[in-house]
Amino acid sequence: MAVAQKSLREARIGVVGATGAVGAVTLELLAARGYDNVRAFGSERSAGTSVPFGGIALVVEQATPEALSAGDLDVCLFSVGTSASRELVPHAVRGGAACVDKSSAYRLEPGIPLVVPEVNGARAREHEGIVANPNCCTIPLTCALKPLHDAAGLARVRVATYQSVSGAGAAAMERLRGETPEQHDLRMDWEFDGVEFDEESKLRAETRKIMELPDLPISATCVRVPVMVGHAEAVWLETEQPLSPERARELLAAAPSVRVEDFPSPGQAAGGDEVLVGRIRSDPTVEHGLVLFLSCDNLRKGAALNALQIADLLVGVTV
Ligand SMILES: NC(=O)c1ccc[n+]([C@@H]2O[C@H](COP(=O)([O-])OP(=O)(O)OC[C@H]3O[C@@H](n4cnc5c(N)ncnc54)[C@H](OP(=O)(O)O)[C@@H]3O)[C@@H](O)[C@H]2O)c1
Repeated sequence: MAVAQKSLREARIGVVGATGAVGAVTLELLAARGYDNVRAFGSERSAGTSVPFGGIALVVEQATPEALSAGDLDVCLFSVGTSASRELVPHAVRGGAACVDKSSAYRLEPGIPLVVPEVNGARAREHEGIVANPNCCTIPLTCALKPLHDAAGLARVRVATYQSVSGAGAAAMERLRGETPEQHDLRMDWEFDGVEFDEESKLRAETRKIMELPDLPISATCVRVPVMVGHAEAVWLETEQPLSPERARELLAAAPSVRVEDFPSPGQAAGGDEVLVGRIRSDPTVEHGLVLFLSCDNLRKGAALNALQIADLLVGVTV
């Protein structure tokens, strides 16, 4: 297909979901990197409106099956909801575009790569038109777990998340802006199956798939906090071999896209590209236990930036 002969910079890129929280950041990152062959797509609701792209405004086109399958897009970066992705992504694939999808529609589908470039980037090359972008908590978690697993083997992981409101999209951000401080509260605004939120089961299943550790014991408790941008996670892990906090700190400091900070926070992470990791210490309550705290911009490395990095990997690969 056409993308095989092009670099991402030359490729014709469609940003689908361009009016949303992730779409806006995707456009910002593309403009900052100097891409100009970019089109913006949304639903019927936003078709004909415009979105900022560098110094100009892009008119939003409706993401119809016809428009997406017309054969004039090389790469499509989807950030629409799961049902819209299920409906629209196959049309873009039919039109010859390599698609990176940020919803949960395809993440656990056998044969569809679920990719964090720093962790399992080579898997992206196995795609047949679709690469799935993981959940915004899974991405930073696996960036931190990978070097520790490589050094000492992961035996168990427990996570508590503190997720920002932008993770729930542009409408939720608007709601937070309209609240008084007294109205701020923790939320658990995911689907509940009577035991777990789907966010918690996604974090477990996606981490296992990306790390290629299908039996890894991992449990999570997810909450949303009244912070606009930037997710945080407290992580308790057990390793098969002993791993000192000092060695873990060295490994994390050398890991791609990770920056060691004493006290990572969403405020520090927001607007940046790195996963901030700190509070690295022993957990004396278990054998070979470590505790750490991380934070990451959920709209950038947790979504738009990771997808762009995947798209970079796809260039030069025939679908
Ligand atoms: N926010 C995050 O931190 C984050 C991180 C990782 C993954 N994700 C995933 O990325 C996706 C988008 O998230 P978001 O936070 O950007 O949500 P959002 O702010 O609510 O934006 C949703 C976008 O999807 C578009 N859309 C909805 N239905 C559509 C349809 N049928 N056809 C075409 N476009 C349609 C909307 O267009 P209109 O304006 O026309 O309605 C809007 O541009 C979700 O699947 C989410 O799970 C989000």
